[in-house]
Amino acid sequence: GKSLVVAIDGPSGSGKSSVSKEVARRLKLAYLDTGAMYRALTWLCLDSGTDLDDGAAVEAAAENLVLEISTSPLEDYVRVGGTDVTLAIREPAISAAVSAVATTLGARTELIRRQRELIKKHHHRMVVEGRDITTVVAPHAEVRMLLTASAEARLRRRGIQLGGSQNAEQLAAQVTLRDAKDSTVVNFTRAADGVVTLDSSELDFAQTVDAALGIVHGIV
Ligand code: C5P
Repeated sequence: GKSLVVAIDGPSGSGKSSVSKEVARRLKLAYLDTGAMYRALTWLCLDSGTDLDDGAAVEAAAENLVLEISTSPLEDYVRVGGTDVTLAIREPAISAAVSAVATTLGARTELIRRQRELIKKHHHRMVVEGRDITTVVAPHAEVRMLLTASAEARLRRRGIQLGGSQNAEQLAAQVTLRDAKDSTVVNFTRAADGVVTLDSSELDFAQTVDAALGIVHGIV
């Protein structure tokens, strides 16, 4: 078929992953969660005792990363060197360390190269989600979207997602801190030229998916 790359950026808690996955299902496209790649690299660094402040060491870890990641919206798996890390990469320890890894430019260069390779392997028919997809990884994507939500809506979703096991204040601080660290590398809070903003603050999941599909159909 024709090329159809749908690039979706946004902060944590915007509902980006679940919305992107459903959009891929509905459009019968492949799906790539680039955040999971940064998380997998972070898992490797923590597992191997790599100093996260040592840029060259983190870059070397990225180059040596043996990664298998699902590119289908119908399954979810991530393996590092044959070890299943699908659940481990969602642990708070990874979320707390991932920004340090993601701000290492050499590591970004390597992961961006692999992301572009995966898009090519899927004949440019893929939904790709992250922080720098619309601007860096796939600036020529047919569809480029920034999925936003008010801080209030994002924290509400976060709280629900984590089952309310930690207190709300602590959660709010963690999410805010990660966004602040992440925004030192890529500006994912403002839409770049040609990027359509979809604010999901007042929308439920189904409405957000419909709005995203509406944007795709309005463009292609
Ligand atoms: O999307 P998710 O919250 O799982 O991403 C985890 C982390 O990976 C982000 O907090 C950010 O540090 C990093 N990331 C990135 N660029 C991307 C996707 C994720 O720097 N394209």
